[in-house]
Amino acid sequence: MRVGLLTGGGDCPGLNAAIRAVVKHGEGTYGHSIIGFRNGWRGVVEGDVMPLGRQHIRNVLPVGGTLLGTARFHPNAEDGGIDAVLSTLEAERIEALICIGGDGTLHAASKVADAGVKIVAIPKTIDNDVSGTDLSIGFHTAVNIATEAIDRIHTTAESHNRVMVVEVMGRHAGWIAINAGIAGGAELVLTPEDPFDIDQVVKFLKHRHRAHANFSIVVVAEGAEPRRGGSMDFTTQLGRFGEIVAGAVGDRLAHEIAERTGFDTRVTILGHVQRGGSPTPTDRILGSRFGVAAIDAVVEGRTGVMTALRGEDVVLVPLSEVAGKPKRVPPDLIRTAQVLA
Ligand code: F6P
Repeated sequence: MRVGLLTGGGDCPGLNAAIRAVVKHGEGTYGHSIIGFRNGWRGVVEGDVMPLGRQHIRNVLPVGGTLLGTARFHPNAEDGGIDAVLSTLEAERIEALICIGGDGTLHAASKVADAGVKIVAIPKTIDNDVSGTDLSIGFHTAVNIATEAIDRIHTTAESHNRVMVVEVMGRHAGWIAINAGIAGGAELVLTPEDPFDIDQVVKFLKHRHRAHANFSIVVVAEGAEPRRGGSMDFTTQLGRFGEIVAGAVGDRLAHEIAERTGFDTRVTILGHVQRGGSPTPTDRILGSRFGVAAIDAVVEGRTGVMTALRGEDVVLVPLSEVAGKPKRVPPDLIRTAQVLA
Protein backbone atom coordinates (compact mmCIF):
# COMPACT_ATOMS: atom_id res chain seq x y z
CA MET A 1 0.00 0.00 0.00
CA ARG A 2 0.97 3.64 -0.35
CA VAL A 3 0.27 5.34 2.96
CA GLY A 4 0.47 9.12 3.37
CA LEU A 5 1.64 10.76 6.59
CA LEU A 6 1.49 14.35 7.84
CA THR A 7 2.00 16.33 11.04
CA GLY A 8 -0.20 19.42 11.36
CA GLY A 9 -0.77 22.34 13.75
CA GLY A 10 1.68 23.30 16.49
CA ASP A 11 4.67 21.01 16.84
CA CYS A 12 5.54 19.16 20.06
CA PRO A 13 8.07 16.67 21.41
CA GLY A 14 7.25 13.05 20.51
CA LEU A 15 6.11 13.58 16.91
CA ASN A 16 9.25 11.99 15.52
CA ALA A 17 8.66 8.86 17.62
CA ALA A 18 5.25 8.49 15.95
CA ILE A 19 6.69 9.11 12.46
CA ARG A 20 9.42 6.55 13.15
CA ALA A 21 6.89 3.94 14.30
CA VAL A 22 4.70 4.47 11.22
CA VAL A 23 7.72 4.06 8.93
CA LYS A 24 9.29 1.12 10.80
CA HIS A 25 6.07 -0.83 11.20
CA GLY A 26 4.55 0.17 7.86
CA GLU A 27 7.61 -0.51 5.76
CA GLY A 28 9.31 -3.12 7.95
CA THR A 29 6.35 -5.32 8.85
CA TYR A 30 4.07 -4.85 5.85
CA GLY A 31 6.29 -3.55 3.04
CA HIS A 32 4.15 -0.42 2.59
CA SER A 33 5.54 2.75 1.03
CA ILE A 34 5.21 5.68 3.41
CA ILE A 35 4.83 9.04 1.68
CA GLY A 36 5.42 12.07 3.88
CA PHE A 37 3.73 15.41 3.24
CA ARG A 38 5.76 18.43 4.29
CA ASN A 39 4.26 21.13 6.54
CA GLY A 40 0.94 19.53 7.37
CA TRP A 41 -2.14 19.95 5.20
CA ARG A 42 -0.33 22.67 3.23
CA GLY A 43 1.97 19.98 1.82
CA VAL A 44 -1.02 17.88 0.75
CA VAL A 45 -2.68 20.83 -0.98
CA GLU A 46 0.60 21.79 -2.70
CA GLY A 47 1.72 18.24 -3.46
CA ASP A 48 4.90 18.72 -1.41
CA VAL A 49 5.95 15.12 -0.72
CA MET A 50 8.98 13.31 0.63
CA PRO A 51 9.33 9.54 0.55
CA LEU A 52 10.01 8.27 4.07
CA GLY A 53 12.30 5.29 4.56
CA ARG A 54 14.42 3.86 7.32
CA GLN A 55 17.28 6.23 6.49
CA HIS A 56 15.07 9.22 7.42
CA ILE A 57 14.13 7.99 10.87
CA ARG A 58 17.49 6.99 12.28
CA ASN A 59 18.21 8.51 15.74
CA VAL A 60 15.07 10.63 15.75
CA LEU A 61 13.59 9.37 19.04
CA PRO A 62 15.30 12.00 21.23
CA VAL A 63 14.77 14.83 18.74
CA GLY A 64 11.96 17.37 19.36
CA GLY A 65 9.83 18.96 16.63
CA THR A 66 8.81 17.08 13.51
CA LEU A 67 11.07 15.95 10.70
CA LEU A 68 8.15 16.47 8.30
CA GLY A 69 7.63 20.11 9.26
CA THR A 70 4.22 21.45 10.19
CA ALA A 71 1.94 24.42 9.61
CA ARG A 72 -1.28 25.93 10.86
CA PHE A 73 -3.21 25.38 7.64
CA HIS A 74 -6.68 23.91 7.32
CA PRO A 75 -7.73 22.84 3.78
CA ASN A 76 -11.40 22.98 4.78
CA ALA A 77 -10.97 26.72 5.47
CA GLU A 78 -9.43 27.45 2.03
CA ASP A 79 -11.30 27.88 -1.25
CA GLY A 80 -10.90 24.61 -3.18
CA GLY A 81 -8.76 23.19 -0.36
CA ILE A 82 -10.48 19.81 -0.07
CA ASP A 83 -10.48 19.36 -3.87
CA ALA A 84 -6.74 20.09 -3.93
CA VAL A 85 -6.22 17.48 -1.18
CA LEU A 86 -8.18 14.89 -3.18
CA SER A 87 -6.28 15.54 -6.39
CA THR A 88 -2.85 15.28 -4.69
CA LEU A 89 -3.85 12.04 -2.98
CA GLU A 90 -5.01 10.65 -6.32
CA ALA A 91 -1.85 11.79 -8.12
CA GLU A 92 0.32 10.20 -5.41
CA ARG A 93 -1.86 7.06 -5.38
CA ILE A 94 -2.32 7.35 -1.61
CA GLU A 95 -4.60 4.61 -0.29
CA ALA A 96 -4.79 5.79 3.32
CA LEU A 97 -3.63 8.92 5.12
CA ILE A 98 -2.30 9.07 8.68
CA CYS A 99 -2.73 12.56 10.20
CA ILE A 100 -0.91 13.47 13.39
CA GLY A 101 -2.44 16.58 14.86
CA GLY A 102 -4.42 18.47 17.47
CA ASP A 103 -7.95 19.71 17.32
CA GLY A 104 -7.63 21.84 14.13
CA THR A 105 -5.80 19.13 12.17
CA LEU A 106 -8.25 16.47 13.31
CA HIS A 107 -11.23 18.63 12.39
CA ALA A 108 -9.75 19.03 8.89
CA ALA A 109 -9.09 15.26 8.86
CA SER A 110 -12.74 14.52 9.58
CA LYS A 111 -13.78 16.81 6.68
CA VAL A 112 -11.35 15.03 4.35
CA ALA A 113 -12.67 11.67 5.61
CA ASP A 114 -16.21 12.87 4.79
CA ALA A 115 -14.97 13.40 1.22
CA GLY A 116 -14.12 9.68 1.02
CA VAL A 117 -10.46 9.51 2.08
CA LYS A 118 -9.37 6.68 4.38
CA ILE A 119 -7.97 8.48 7.41
CA VAL A 120 -6.37 7.35 10.65
CA ALA A 121 -5.58 10.17 13.06
CA ILE A 122 -3.08 10.33 15.92
CA PRO A 123 -3.65 12.94 18.68
CA LYS A 124 -0.87 15.33 19.61
CA THR A 125 -0.88 18.61 21.49
CA ILE A 126 0.93 19.82 24.55
CA ASP A 127 -2.46 21.25 25.62
CA ASN A 128 -3.82 17.67 26.02
CA ASP A 129 -7.27 18.91 25.05
CA VAL A 130 -8.13 16.35 22.32
CA SER A 131 -11.16 14.45 23.55
CA GLY A 132 -11.46 10.68 23.46
CA THR A 133 -7.90 10.02 24.66
CA ASP A 134 -6.38 10.16 28.14
CA LEU A 135 -3.15 11.58 26.73
CA SER A 136 -1.96 13.33 23.59
CA ILE A 137 1.64 13.26 22.36
CA GLY A 138 3.67 16.18 23.78
CA PHE A 139 1.70 16.86 26.95
CA HIS A 140 3.90 14.86 29.30
CA THR A 141 7.06 16.64 28.14
CA ALA A 142 5.41 20.05 28.47
CA VAL A 143 4.31 19.31 32.05
CA ASN A 144 7.88 18.29 32.87
CA ILE A 145 9.26 21.52 31.42
CA ALA A 146 6.69 23.68 33.21
CA THR A 147 7.23 21.88 36.52
CA GLU A 148 10.98 22.34 36.33
CA ALA A 149 10.45 26.04 35.58
CA ILE A 150 8.14 26.42 38.60
CA ASP A 151 10.73 24.67 40.80
CA ARG A 152 13.37 27.16 39.66
CA ILE A 153 11.05 30.14 40.11
CA HIS A 154 10.25 28.99 43.66
CA THR A 155 13.73 29.63 44.98
CA THR A 156 14.07 33.10 43.51
CA ALA A 157 10.50 33.98 44.61
CA GLU A 158 11.34 33.07 48.19
CA SER A 159 14.66 34.92 48.19
CA HIS A 160 13.04 38.14 46.98
CA ASN A 161 9.71 37.90 48.82
CA ARG A 162 7.88 38.17 45.52
CA VAL A 163 4.69 37.08 43.84
CA MET A 164 5.69 35.23 40.68
CA VAL A 165 3.11 34.78 37.94
CA VAL A 166 3.99 31.90 35.61
CA GLU A 167 2.02 31.72 32.35
CA VAL A 168 1.84 28.31 30.69
CA MET A 169 0.20 27.22 27.43
CA GLY A 170 -3.37 25.96 27.30
CA ARG A 171 -5.89 27.79 25.14
CA HIS A 172 -9.13 26.00 25.88
CA ALA A 173 -8.06 23.77 28.75
CA GLY A 174 -5.74 24.09 31.73
CA TRP A 175 -4.14 20.64 31.72
CA ILE A 176 -0.56 21.93 31.82
CA ALA A 177 -1.40 24.59 34.40
CA ILE A 178 -3.16 22.18 36.76
CA ASN A 179 -0.63 19.36 36.48
CA ALA A 180 2.50 21.52 36.63
CA GLY A 181 0.84 23.63 39.34
CA ILE A 182 0.20 20.59 41.54
CA ALA A 183 3.62 19.08 40.82
CA GLY A 184 5.42 22.39 41.40
CA GLY A 185 3.43 23.37 44.49
CA ALA A 186 1.87 26.55 43.09
CA GLU A 187 -0.26 28.58 45.47
CA LEU A 188 -2.87 29.44 42.83
CA VAL A 189 -3.67 27.82 39.48
CA LEU A 190 -5.95 29.71 37.08
CA THR A 191 -7.48 27.84 34.15
CA PRO A 192 -9.86 28.46 31.23
CA GLU A 193 -12.32 26.02 32.83
CA ASP A 194 -12.77 28.10 35.96
CA PRO A 195 -12.89 31.89 35.36
CA PHE A 196 -11.10 33.62 38.24
CA ASP A 197 -12.25 36.42 40.50
CA ILE A 198 -9.40 38.91 40.78
CA ASP A 199 -10.74 40.14 44.14
CA GLN A 200 -10.50 36.59 45.51
CA VAL A 201 -6.98 36.21 44.08
CA VAL A 202 -5.90 39.43 45.80
CA LYS A 203 -7.61 38.49 49.07
CA PHE A 204 -5.93 35.08 49.06
CA LEU A 205 -2.47 36.52 48.39
CA LYS A 206 -2.80 39.24 51.05
CA HIS A 207 -3.95 36.72 53.63
CA ARG A 208 -1.18 34.27 52.78
CA HIS A 209 1.54 36.93 52.94
CA ARG A 210 0.17 38.30 56.22
CA ALA A 211 -0.32 34.91 57.85
CA HIS A 212 2.43 32.52 56.85
CA ALA A 213 4.54 33.21 53.75
CA ASN A 214 6.48 35.95 52.07
CA PHE A 215 6.17 34.72 48.50
CA SER A 216 3.63 33.10 46.16
CA ILE A 217 3.58 31.31 42.83
CA VAL A 218 0.53 31.90 40.63
CA VAL A 219 0.30 29.62 37.58
CA VAL A 220 -2.02 30.89 34.87
CA ALA A 221 -2.99 29.12 31.65
CA GLU A 222 -2.81 31.42 28.62
CA GLY A 223 -6.55 30.90 28.01
CA ALA A 224 -7.64 31.74 31.58
CA GLU A 225 -9.99 34.70 31.93
CA PRO A 226 -11.46 36.70 34.79
CA ARG A 227 -15.11 36.03 35.48
CA ARG A 228 -17.57 38.29 33.71
CA GLY A 229 -18.93 41.14 35.79
CA GLY A 230 -15.89 41.16 38.11
CA SER A 231 -13.54 44.08 38.70
CA MET A 232 -10.99 43.03 36.05
CA ASP A 233 -12.00 43.60 32.44
CA PHE A 234 -10.02 41.33 30.10
CA THR A 235 -10.87 39.15 27.09
CA THR A 236 -8.46 36.75 25.39
CA GLN A 237 -7.64 37.66 21.79
CA LEU A 238 -7.45 34.63 19.48
CA GLY A 239 -5.61 34.45 16.15
CA ARG A 240 -7.03 32.98 12.93
CA PHE A 241 -6.37 29.42 14.03
CA GLY A 242 -7.37 29.95 17.66
CA GLU A 243 -3.80 30.58 18.79
CA ILE A 244 -3.14 33.03 21.60
CA VAL A 245 -0.44 35.71 21.72
CA ALA A 246 1.67 34.47 24.59
CA GLY A 247 1.87 36.72 27.60
CA ALA A 248 -1.39 38.65 27.34
CA VAL A 249 -3.10 37.28 30.45
CA GLY A 250 0.15 36.71 32.38
CA ASP A 251 1.34 40.30 31.96
CA ARG A 252 -2.04 41.74 32.81
CA LEU A 253 -2.52 39.51 35.85
CA ALA A 254 0.92 40.41 37.25
CA HIS A 255 0.09 44.07 36.76
CA GLU A 256 -3.27 43.74 38.55
CA ILE A 257 -1.73 41.82 41.45
CA ALA A 258 1.09 44.36 41.88
CA GLU A 259 -1.34 47.31 41.76
CA ARG A 260 -3.91 45.80 44.09
CA THR A 261 -1.60 44.22 46.69
CA GLY A 262 1.47 46.41 46.56
CA PHE A 263 3.57 43.20 46.51
CA ASP A 264 6.68 43.05 44.37
CA THR A 265 5.44 40.93 41.43
CA ARG A 266 7.15 39.46 38.38
CA VAL A 267 5.91 37.44 35.43
CA THR A 268 7.49 34.57 33.50
CA ILE A 269 5.94 33.56 30.18
CA LEU A 270 7.04 30.00 29.42
CA GLY A 271 5.60 30.12 25.88
CA HIS A 272 7.17 27.94 23.22
CA VAL A 273 9.86 26.65 25.58
CA GLN A 274 7.15 24.15 26.54
CA ARG A 275 6.95 22.87 22.95
CA GLY A 276 10.67 22.46 22.37
CA GLY A 277 13.44 20.02 23.14
CA SER A 278 13.71 16.31 23.68
CA PRO A 279 10.57 14.28 24.48
CA THR A 280 10.24 12.41 27.77
CA PRO A 281 10.25 8.59 27.60
CA THR A 282 6.46 8.70 28.15
CA ASP A 283 5.97 10.79 24.99
CA ARG A 284 8.38 8.63 22.99
CA ILE A 285 6.49 5.52 24.06
CA LEU A 286 3.08 7.08 23.42
CA GLY A 287 4.14 8.28 19.96
CA SER A 288 5.55 4.82 19.19
CA ARG A 289 2.41 3.02 20.36
CA PHE A 290 0.11 5.36 18.41
CA GLY A 291 2.26 4.97 15.27
CA VAL A 292 2.10 1.18 15.44
CA ALA A 293 -1.66 1.24 16.15
CA ALA A 294 -2.27 3.60 13.20
CA ILE A 295 -0.52 1.26 10.76
CA ASP A 296 -2.40 -1.73 12.18
CA ALA A 297 -5.67 0.18 11.72
CA VAL A 298 -4.81 0.95 8.08
CA VAL A 299 -3.97 -2.71 7.43
CA GLU A 300 -7.20 -3.89 9.06
CA GLY A 301 -9.20 -1.37 7.02
CA ARG A 302 -10.37 0.44 10.16
CA THR A 303 -10.36 4.06 9.01
CA GLY A 304 -12.20 7.24 9.96
CA VAL A 305 -10.73 6.68 13.42
CA MET A 306 -8.23 8.15 15.89
CA THR A 307 -5.78 6.22 18.04
CA ALA A 308 -6.44 6.89 21.72
CA LEU A 309 -5.03 5.94 25.10
CA ARG A 310 -7.69 4.63 27.50
CA GLY A 311 -6.12 3.55 30.76
CA GLU A 312 -3.34 1.14 29.77
CA ASP A 313 -4.78 0.40 26.33
CA VAL A 314 -4.45 1.95 22.91
CA VAL A 315 -7.84 1.83 21.21
CA LEU A 316 -9.47 3.30 18.09
CA VAL A 317 -12.26 5.86 18.43
CA PRO A 318 -14.41 7.28 15.62
CA LEU A 319 -12.94 10.57 14.39
CA SER A 320 -16.40 12.10 14.14
CA GLU A 321 -16.87 11.64 17.91
CA VAL A 322 -13.74 13.53 18.91
CA ALA A 323 -13.07 16.27 16.36
CA GLY A 324 -14.09 19.77 17.46
CA LYS A 325 -14.80 18.86 21.09
CA PRO A 326 -12.06 20.08 23.43
CA LYS A 327 -11.38 17.90 26.48
CA ARG A 328 -11.49 20.01 29.63
CA VAL A 329 -9.88 19.44 33.01
CA PRO A 330 -12.41 17.72 35.30
CA PRO A 331 -13.58 19.56 38.44
CA ASP A 332 -11.98 17.07 40.85
CA LEU A 333 -8.52 17.74 39.42
CA ILE A 334 -9.09 21.50 39.64
CA ARG A 335 -10.21 21.03 43.22
CA THR A 336 -7.05 19.08 44.06
CA ALA A 337 -4.96 22.06 42.95
CA GLN A 338 -7.20 24.42 44.96
CA VAL A 339 -7.15 22.52 48.24
CA LEU A 340 -3.35 22.22 48.09
CA ALA A 341 -2.90 26.02 47.84
O1 F6P B 1 -0.31 23.65 20.10
C1 F6P B 1 -1.07 24.28 21.05
C2 F6P B 1 -0.43 25.58 21.41
O2 F6P B 1 0.80 25.31 21.99
C3 F6P B 1 -1.30 26.45 22.30
O3 F6P B 1 -1.21 26.19 23.64
C4 F6P B 1 -0.86 27.84 21.92
O4 F6P B 1 -1.89 28.78 22.14
C5 F6P B 1 -0.57 27.71 20.49
O5 F6P B 1 -0.20 26.36 20.27
C6 F6P B 1 0.52 28.63 19.98
O6 F6P B 1 0.57 28.52 18.60
P1 F6P B 1 1.69 29.11 17.67
O7 F6P B 1 2.87 28.20 17.77
O8 F6P B 1 1.07 29.10 16.33
O9 F6P B 1 2.01 30.48 18.21
